[in-house]
Amino acid sequence: MVLKYQIEGQVQSSAGKDMSEEIHIRNAVPSDIDAIVAIDDVGPTEEKPAYWRGIFEHYGTGGKKDRVFLVAESAGEVVGFISGEVRAWEFGSPPCGWVFALAVSPQVRGMGIAGKMFEEICRRLKQAGVSTVRTMVDRSNKEVLAFFRSQDLRTGKYIELEKELV
Ligand SMILES: CC(C)(COP(=O)(O)OP(=O)(O)OC[C@H]1O[C@@H](n2cnc3c(N)ncnc32)[C@H](O)[C@@H]1OP(=O)(O)O)[C@@H](O)C(=O)NCCC(=O)NCCS
Repeated sequence: MVLKYQIEGQVQSSAGKDMSEEIHIRNAVPSDIDAIVAIDDVGPTEEKPAYWRGIFEHYGTGGKKDRVFLVAESAGEVVGFISGEVRAWEFGSPPCGWVFALAVSPQVRGMGIAGKMFEEICRRLKQAGVSTVRTMVDRSNKEVLAFFRSQDLRTGKYIELEKELV
C-alpha cells in the first residue's frame, strides 16, 4: 500500500502499512482546536480548550518561522498534531528547537504519521536556523520514548531536576 503525504503544497509518497488516504500536513488554524482537544488525552480534559487557545495565541498560524504548530489531516479530519519552537539561551543553551506536544489519533497510529510530522517540524526548525532539536518525555511513557528514539533522538547533555514544593 502506498501512503501519500502532502506537506504544504508538496506531495510525497512513502511505503505505508494500511492506509490509502492522503495525509496532508499543514499549519494548524484555530478551527482545529476541537479536533486537537479530542486527540490530546494527556492532562485534565476541562482545562484543555483554554490551554490550546493559549497555544494558538502564542504560535499564531504559521507566520513565525521560529514557532511551529502543525496538524496532519486525513479525508478532511485532523488526525494528529505537533508543536515546537526555537528557544535561545535557556539553561545556558545556544538556540535550539524544542518539540512540546505530539499526538496521533489512536485509530491511525503505527502508519508513520507522527514520523512525517516530526520530519516536517525538524525541517522548519532547521530553516529557522537551529541544528539541534530537543524534547522532554515522561520516562514511563514507553510509546513516546520509543517514537523519539526511532527518530534518532538520544539522551542529551542536560538533565531535568525537580523538587516537590510543600
Ligand atoms: C507516540 C505517537 C505520537 C506515535 O505516533 P504514530 O503515528 O503511531 O508513530 P509512527 O507510526 O510515525 O511511528 C514511527 C516509529 O516510532 C516507533 N513507535 C511508534 N509507536 C510505538 C509504540 N507504541 N511502541 C513502540 N514503538 C513505537 C516505531 O519505531 C515506529 O516505527 P515502525 O512503525 O517502523 O516500527 C502516538 O503513539 C501517540 O500519539 N501517543 C500518545 C502521545 C502522547 O502521550 N503525547 C503526550 C506527550 S506530548
